[in-house]
Amino acid sequence: MPKYISLLFLFIFLMSCKTASKLQQSPTPTEPYRPAYHFTPPAHWMNDPNGMVYYEGEYHLFYQYYPEGDKWGPMHWGHAVSRDLVRWEHLPIALYPDSLGLIFSGSAVVDWKNTSGFGQNGKPPLVAIFTQHDMAKEKAGATDFQVQSIAYSNDKGRTWTKYKHNPVLPNPGKPDFRDPKVIWHEATQKWVMVLAEKDHVNFYNSPDLKTWTQTGIFGRVFGSHAGVWECPDLFPIKVEGRTDVKWVLTQSINPGGPNGGSATQYFVGDFDGKKFILDPVFQHAMGKFKADPKQGTPELERAVWLDYGRDNYAGVTFSDIPASDGRRIAIGWMSNWDYAQDVPTKPWRSAMTIPRQFFLKNMPEGYRLFSRPVKEMETLRKKQFAIPPRTFKGAWDLTTESGIAPGSMELDLSISLPPGAIFDIELSNDAGNRYLISYDAALKQFSSDRTQAGKSDFSAKFAAKPHLAPRQVDEEAVRLHLYFDRASCELFADGGATVLTDIFFPNGDFTHWKLIGRNYNVVLNAGTAWALSK
Ligand code: FRU
Repeated sequence: MPKYISLLFLFIFLMSCKTASKLQQSPTPTEPYRPAYHFTPPAHWMNDPNGMVYYEGEYHLFYQYYPEGDKWGPMHWGHAVSRDLVRWEHLPIALYPDSLGLIFSGSAVVDWKNTSGFGQNGKPPLVAIFTQHDMAKEKAGATDFQVQSIAYSNDKGRTWTKYKHNPVLPNPGKPDFRDPKVIWHEATQKWVMVLAEKDHVNFYNSPDLKTWTQTGIFGRVFGSHAGVWECPDLFPIKVEGRTDVKWVLTQSINPGGPNGGSATQYFVGDFDGKKFILDPVFQHAMGKFKADPKQGTPELERAVWLDYGRDNYAGVTFSDIPASDGRRIAIGWMSNWDYAQDVPTKPWRSAMTIPRQFFLKNMPEGYRLFSRPVKEMETLRKKQFAIPPRTFKGAWDLTTESGIAPGSMELDLSISLPPGAIFDIELSNDAGNRYLISYDAALKQFSSDRTQAGKSDFSAKFAAKPHLAPRQVDEEAVRLHLYFDRASCELFADGGATVLTDIFFPNGDFTHWKLIGRNYNVVLNAGTAWALSK
């Protein structure tokens, strides 16, 4: 074959590779709900983020993955890495099921001191700690079908070896015994595991990640117990504006979320390496269960929620982000067990939330977690439009004025409005779908209304009513920071005090957007819109 012909073939081949890899990232007519910048698997089913750890310049994201179907099935750990938390490279599956069972949720750490002895050539190993779920045992009626196992990697997470003496934590006869989050506790120089056990968590200690001793229990009488506790996280965080550190325990629960189904509650207190003690002010605001003598059940279900939307579940934070960076960064699964297996996406199901940085503030009602998009999200900003400040009533259509399509858009607004006024951001399309994010000044409440936002007949639980979120701060101007990505909205209100994450499925991309002042004049103090893409 003449040289120029082979070069031509090479060129065509390279171009087709480029197109193929592009197809995975950007929406195509056959993948109308593929987000432009949220993490999704190329194909098949995904749920919880797992094993999030930072090592040698890479953020690792493992995730619950069923590589043979688009509904939940035998779980593996899928894998991707990123240098900036925003652009992800897909890697081969990291962990496959084995004779001990499927690979359920868990965490990963850098074992800097090589306490496990798995390190090689003076380099620390990455160690993953996860639940193995034995389906056959469960079907046979056993109660001890979930155990904790470990695996290690000596090549930056590319390949994993399971520990030959797994499990490292056998099951004492509890059907819900899962989702280990492991951290290094500096003060006591021990590993700590927090494990979800149905309606509470247990803490365990280990010197080497291989042998574990139970040290404490938390949660039976605090928070919501309307569902099963899953995917806990435990981390120290500096209080904003102060030098002291508090401990946060986040706890996903399904069902029982504030707007239905899956959601994440959290607790703030102190942790001594063995026990978690709830902060007294936080405890006071949340109340404590009193056993109802008639029912034998708790009568109070008060909880503090991380996100009021219906689509942020099983979120946990990265391990081993360097102290020089110092951030506490979380990613959640952007779906809800109420309908996750039925959402109309193909050939994949589910996306992750955008990465969020946590802040802890001391408020009159106790410590509260604030979430804000990580600063790396700013690298997605393309065309920018400064919305002119204005006092207005009724609809203000910004589609043409801004030249920005709302499909993948970031909005940052500051508004002032009198009691009785309602402010909406409306996204719409030519198919007659509309999605609304609103703030009601009288009720001091945000809402997300996807009831007319497109497809919803796949589940009666998907779009029955708008989702509500109380305002957490008492300031005159309301700040709404929003990310839209074709099939999702993430609202960070008042600097991250109120967070709401919802997904939706319009019949055609949203092409128009409006700001609406209802009842009274609304003041737009300042506003910016950005078109986003990778
Ligand atoms: C949470 C969860 C975890 C479990 C995993 C199984 O969404 O139910 O408790 O480990 O999903 O995929």
